[in-house]
Amino acid sequence: MVRIQIYDTTLRDGEQTPGVHFGVQQKYDIAKRLARTGVDIIEAGFPASSHGDFEAVRQIAEASARGKLGDATVSALARMRKEDIDAAADSLSEARRRRLHVFIATSDIHLENKLRITRQEALDRIRDSIDYAVGLGRFDEIEFSAEDATRTDRAFLLETVRLAAQRGAKIVNIPDTVGYTTPGEFKEILREVKKNLPDDVRISVHCHNDLGMAVANSLAAAECGAEQIECTVNGLGERAGNAAMEEIVMALNVRADAIRREDGEPLFCGVHTKEITETSRLVSSLSGILVAPNKAVVGQNAFAHASGIHQHGVMAASGTYEIMNPEDIGLTGHTIVLGKLSGRHAFADRVLQMGYSLDAAGIDATFARFKEIADKKSALTDDDVRAIVGEYLDSLEGMYYLNTFQIQSGNHIKAMALVSLSVKNPADPDEPQRIVTEAAPGEGPIDAAFNAVNRIAGAEDAELVSYGITAVTEGTDALGEARVKIRVASTTYTGRGVSTDVIKASIKAYLGAINKWKSMQEQAENREA
Ligand code: KIV
Ligand code: ZN
Repeated sequence: MVRIQIYDTTLRDGEQTPGVHFGVQQKYDIAKRLARTGVDIIEAGFPASSHGDFEAVRQIAEASARGKLGDATVSALARMRKEDIDAAADSLSEARRRRLHVFIATSDIHLENKLRITRQEALDRIRDSIDYAVGLGRFDEIEFSAEDATRTDRAFLLETVRLAAQRGAKIVNIPDTVGYTTPGEFKEILREVKKNLPDDVRISVHCHNDLGMAVANSLAAAECGAEQIECTVNGLGERAGNAAMEEIVMALNVRADAIRREDGEPLFCGVHTKEITETSRLVSSLSGILVAPNKAVVGQNAFAHASGIHQHGVMAASGTYEIMNPEDIGLTGHTIVLGKLSGRHAFADRVLQMGYSLDAAGIDATFARFKEIADKKSALTDDDVRAIVGEYLDSLEGMYYLNTFQIQSGNHIKAMALVSLSVKNPADPDEPQRIVTEAAPGEGPIDAAFNAVNRIAGAEDAELVSYGITAVTEGTDALGEARVKIRVASTTYTGRGVSTDVIKASIKAYLGAINKWKSMQEQAENREA
């Protein structure tokens, strides 16, 4: 049996999803959940890219030292530069097992247009950087990635991987960076790469999903010698995302009979499938990216049967239309219901079980929201609690908070909103908050409210990219969860808000996005100062 190592890059490549930004605490919570799910390697971030990423990798490494991440290896990404490799070494220093992941683009299109270097210069950088990393002696293992490998001249790709292995990379990754390859073609590449590498070098693959083949390509590679698959929870990632961890794992489980090495040897991985649902939900909640209802394995409809014929079949024998048991991915239908009489302790316990580690102030704030909502709504489910905690975490970076609002709208009058916000001074959190009120017209109540917020926050240039509101649970008293995406100066920011009042939920979501933009702006100003 060959064990396929699952390398999770939700915290690094997954965070490259447009509009997604995980705070340090959120990354820490996801890392703990990933470890509990049984992934082998957690790519914690790209430490040289920002102070926040460095700090997140450092804290995750520290958690690993304290035994909070089981046996998971902690990995950090670096370009082929000394500063990047030093940042990776410093941030990883406490981890139980430290992996450096160095990459360089190898395709001509990337070398010529992005890096503006020759193939020889790329080879020089590979040699010098891996030599430098080996010389530091601060990593347990080094992984080399040939970015855009599938569009790289084959002979040159083989030259780069041979060189990386000779200099000391024990894991060689073949990324399909732009989701271009096909299972048949990828198999050929993998066979050649394998022939060119010594047996003690592990081959990894990293597939993007631009043509919807990321999972198929990853599994095809595993059949031809890859021993590590890089993937993300819910398939998060740049553009169409990365290979989805839950799909890889369930395919390896459900079709162990068919997905095998070419010589017939069976494959398996160490992920605990029963943790998949909880992990998917935590990542969806913290990323603010909803899982499509028809998404394989973790979509809301993955086990729902609408047609009468299918329902009848499933009731008679679940295998008629279900190839997996919902219980196998931890979908039990059992959601703990909390109500108005539930105490702080029960609430805090549930929040912890769901994977969030809030401090006492966080529990106080979310419990207060929970009580406020429980007064209006008889029973709250896990989904409600997730929405409340998600909104709270989004608000942590906040400068603007909703104080009061009044809306006038109707079918014969122009909508008008009067919004009043509490405004914090980010440079001095102890300074008393100011209350600022603005009125603005709009095409409807939501447009008017957003316009009033824009006036207060100086965000007239913000463009609303998407807005949606969903009922978290069933019933007319359900919590409405609003999600907003805005674009300012070509960067997108997301926010979410929950309330039993949809306008209030919408304003809070909009403020969440505005707050993220302001906090990024402030970080950029601090860096320049
Ligand atoms: O897609 C890609 O090529 C990457 C590399 C950094 C591995 O994410
Ligand atoms: Zn990638």
